[in-house]
Amino acid sequence: MMPTSTISISPLREEDIPGAVDAIQEAFAEDPYNLWVYNDRSKLNLNRNRVSLGIRCRWGIRNALFYVAKDLVSDEKDKVLGIAMWIPPRQTKLKKTWGEWLEGWKLWCQQVGMNVWYGRGGLNVKRYYIWKQRQAEAQSEIWTDPKGYYFCNVIVVLPEAQGKGIGRALFREVTQKADAEGRRCYLESSRDEPNTKIYEAMGFHFVKQMDCDDGGDVCQLYCMVREPQSPL
Ligand SMILES: CC(C)(COP(=O)(O)OP(=O)(O)OC[C@H]1O[C@@H](n2cnc3c(N)ncnc32)[C@H](O)[C@@H]1OP(=O)(O)O)[C@@H](O)C(=O)NCCC(=O)NCCS
Repeated sequence: MMPTSTISISPLREEDIPGAVDAIQEAFAEDPYNLWVYNDRSKLNLNRNRVSLGIRCRWGIRNALFYVAKDLVSDEKDKVLGIAMWIPPRQTKLKKTWGEWLEGWKLWCQQVGMNVWYGRGGLNVKRYYIWKQRQAEAQSEIWTDPKGYYFCNVIVVLPEAQGKGIGRALFREVTQKADAEGRRCYLESSRDEPNTKIYEAMGFHFVKQMDCDDGGDVCQLYCMVREPQSPL
């Protein structure tokens, strides 16, 4: 077991993307949301999924708070052990900038190009839009703080490295910033057990269950918020 004192957290770079994609694919292989939205496993195209995640990672490097965990004293010191991507807070009175709008448009164009090239790769498009709709409803109901929320959009640790404090180190990078600014954090967990317990250990509390219902086949997500904490 690696001591967490040798773990470094740094901003994700282009050369980390293949390792980040591996970590996401491995850690989410049995994830309930993943199994629900890619329900026809015979059509699952992991290569198309890699391209899609790569596009999302590049968007994240430019637009999100995106961190990678590595073990500096291991033989594989460049190996990606975990990643966290956070969407920065938006104050309610601020509109999207032209730059943000262009970035969103660029992401959309790249995704369309990918779909033309690879097809949907097993993605259940109807379910994807059900989820997007429920997510928009939940966020407009929960995000009442005018200072905005740090949104933990993705956090994963490689299965063999889980339970050793890497998730906590990845969270701390942003939660301490949020605490210093007096801002709330937010996430949507796709597992009740054990994830909601793990997030409670990070200071989050459950606020709403999001039911994505496709004709009775329901995927449940758990919306959680973290209040800013003052230093001890
Ligand atoms: C969720 C995840 C990112 C957490 O990372 P991790 O490195 O395993 O977590 P840590 O070892 O830093 O543990 C964080 C805290 O949760 C607690 N914890 C860890 N596993 C736990 C479990 N199975 N049950 C209860 N608490 C647990 C730890 O005790 C720790 O609290 P402490 O520091 O107060 O002792 C990681 O397990 C993961 O990638 N899971 C699979 C992918 C996934 O589900 N991602 C999130 C989708 S919403």
